[in-house]
Amino acid sequence: MSAFKKTILITGGAGFIGSHVVRLFVNKYPDYKIVNLDKLTYAGNLENLKDIEQKQNYVFERGDILDSAFLQKIFEQYNFDGVIHLAAESHVDRSISNPIEFVVTNVIGTVTLLNAAKHHWNTSLDNKTEGKLFYHVSTDEVYGSLGAEGHFTEETKYDPHSPYSASKASSDHFVRAYYDTFGLPVVISNCSNNYGSHHFPEKLIPLAINNIKNNKPVPVYGKGENVRDWLYVEDHASAIDTIFHKGKVGDTYNVGGNNEWRNIDIVHLLCQIMDKKLGRENGESVKLITFVKDRAGHDLRYAIDSTKLQNDLGWKPSVKPEQGLEKTVDWYLANEEWLNHVTSGAYQKYYEQQYVIR
Ligand code: NAD
Ligand code: DAU
Repeated sequence: MSAFKKTILITGGAGFIGSHVVRLFVNKYPDYKIVNLDKLTYAGNLENLKDIEQKQNYVFERGDILDSAFLQKIFEQYNFDGVIHLAAESHVDRSISNPIEFVVTNVIGTVTLLNAAKHHWNTSLDNKTEGKLFYHVSTDEVYGSLGAEGHFTEETKYDPHSPYSASKASSDHFVRAYYDTFGLPVVISNCSNNYGSHHFPEKLIPLAINNIKNNKPVPVYGKGENVRDWLYVEDHASAIDTIFHKGKVGDTYNVGGNNEWRNIDIVHLLCQIMDKKLGRENGESVKLITFVKDRAGHDLRYAIDSTKLQNDLGWKPSVKPEQGLEKTVDWYLANEEWLNHVTSGAYQKYYEQQYVIR
């Protein structure tokens, strides 16, 4: 008998969003055991979890979601009550240069993990296995692109355009197929763009902060007119907590901040904040903005309608955009070593040697 009320597997817990979810669960639920399974790719970094790594209810397992023997071993060892699945390849531009990697990790990796849960929980259509839950964390990009009007709801038809969003859409379909065919208890959420601390500096906001700091050009794709709906990462983690505990099995929930910005406008705002923080003259950093060739298949606009999550489960975002961006800039300026070590690959090399895949 475990001394813990629940044992939860979180995949991708060393990544950007995953590390915030692990931190929230470890601190908020001392009676849950949290097992973080991560392969530690370029995007996963145990520095992100330094503040909680010594906690009694936290364990790290380095491994690959594609390795079914490893998954079987840890399912038997820990007897998980729940899975929160975040491990993925997550960057759209990388999916354009290497689509196969996204199919392998995001589709085959997810199905391998679904198989492990199905096998271990011994699910069937007659027995939906009370108390167990496979929670799949997905993206609003599966819905495709909006024009000037409208929002994505849970009923919006899937219409992915990039290899990344096509791989996430496929993984969502497999999760639903395991619910319909095998009775695996699942829940899915589709979230808009996150921002905050520990975000790998290949994505727009941390890339812009890093480049402004180093007086390097800030690349803006096309005319910068594409719109993203930004959510502070801790608000996403709290939505995941809410959905994991209160979500209806078999359902989908959209998560978003109702916080739309054109890329060019958010980069301008970052320049203003950085000028102030770095003691530069107002308008100095804006000169770094450089318009570059557009991303292939670039979705014009994302905007999430999260009414269902707000009305049915009582979640709402708590961090205002300007406040969240300022906190994010402060974190990057205070954590220069983190930034240098993730961009140089030094952390990755160090942790690869510390944790050999078993
Ligand atoms: P990330 O790239 O920062 O982290 C991904 C993590 O997964 C890394 O720690 C990496 O080491 C791990 N990983 C990759 N392949 C693995 C494998 N084969 N086995 C085990 N671990 C592996 O990603 P993120 O931005 O934190 O996104 C997390 C999840 O949330 C993804 O599923 C993504 O699709 C989804 N999502 C992200 C956003 C966003 O704005 N970043 C928005 C909505 C949904
Ligand atoms: O919508 C949710 C998705 O948001 C997540 O599922 C993805 O994992 C996450 O990476 C993010 O995808 P985007 O492609 O929207 O994020 P990114 O930060 O790469 O780009 C944000 C916008 O900024 C997008 O319109 C492209 C643009 N951009 C991006 C980069 C890296 C630039 O203009 N210049 C850049 O250098």
